[in-house]
Amino acid sequence: MSDQPEPNPAAAYLEPPEGSKATRPEPLNLFESAPPNLDVLAQLSGQNVLYARQFSFELVAELCKLAAVLEEIEIWPYHPLDGKIITTAFFEASTRTRTSFESAAHRLGGRVISIPDGSITGAKKGESIQDIGEMFNAYCDCVVMRHTETSAPKEILENLRIPLINAGNGSGEHPTQALADWYALLKWKPRLAAPFETGDQKLKLGILGTPGSMRAVKSFLLMSLLFHEHISKVTVISEMADPFGPDVIESLNQADIDYEVTNDIRESLPQLDIIYMNSIAFLGDSYKALDSRYKLDADSPLKQDAVILHPLARLDELDTSLDKTPHNLYFSQAHGAVFIRQALLLAVLGRLDRLPEL
Ligand code: CP
Repeated sequence: MSDQPEPNPAAAYLEPPEGSKATRPEPLNLFESAPPNLDVLAQLSGQNVLYARQFSFELVAELCKLAAVLEEIEIWPYHPLDGKIITTAFFEASTRTRTSFESAAHRLGGRVISIPDGSITGAKKGESIQDIGEMFNAYCDCVVMRHTETSAPKEILENLRIPLINAGNGSGEHPTQALADWYALLKWKPRLAAPFETGDQKLKLGILGTPGSMRAVKSFLLMSLLFHEHISKVTVISEMADPFGPDVIESLNQADIDYEVTNDIRESLPQLDIIYMNSIAFLGDSYKALDSRYKLDADSPLKQDAVILHPLARLDELDTSLDKTPHNLYFSQAHGAVFIRQALLLAVLGRLDRLPEL
């Protein structure tokens, strides 16, 4: 299509409300010097999206650039997902992930079969996840699934022959959250989209949480390793002596990145440029707030231009007094999830050729 796309009118709603100084970086900064490379993104066509490690630096950077384009232009007149049906199958509670995937699909002209609660499926009667997968093959073109069981993606893939996007599996991973996290960061500092150090100061990354038992934190940390050229150190602030678990520690030790674990938040906080926090851990079949003594509010000793990311939902670890401060990148992170998920759906469903000329 060669028609010039119109600006996205919804973008106005993404501005912070009056009186708020929350950080809302411009998407344009991310793609104006180089448009997204659709050939790189085409490798995702027909693929499952299961974990952070499957992504290369280039793939994350190009997905973020395409997301920025989609945030900037009005895409719905092109309805690039015309004729495609996406099932969102959520066997565990969600506010953001399911609705942002559904919003992404609707705004692209796709159709959605929404299962907001797995207990309304045959699972309630004891049906296996493998059998549910066999049915989905006939009903849709792609499944976005969240499940309480870490093993659920592997099990459904025994019979599923259409792409599966993992929207969170127990204490496993949440790879599309990590994409949303890095999309917010790349908009904030577009130089992070360069695969090499740009001569600017490297960033100090802090994590308040336990990657070993918080899937969003785990996926974020694993994806962060791709950005090692831009990160001087990762500081994990946790109550636990080993917050990683064997799986993550192996990746950390293999990566070209300096890291430390501490329980001293007062000493670490003033050094950090980016703070990623979460407190809800999924343990077995229940939720638990971990690291509950680490809380941030507007009086915390933060570096003046430090930004905070949080996958949300929050408990009292992230005080609302921060919401109107420039430290708040977390609302931009949540809003931007629609656009990064649009980019992902277009790539996975092989519809990049339906985009307007970029
Ligand atoms: N970030 C996230 O996964 O939020 P939801 O649990 O609301 O989907």
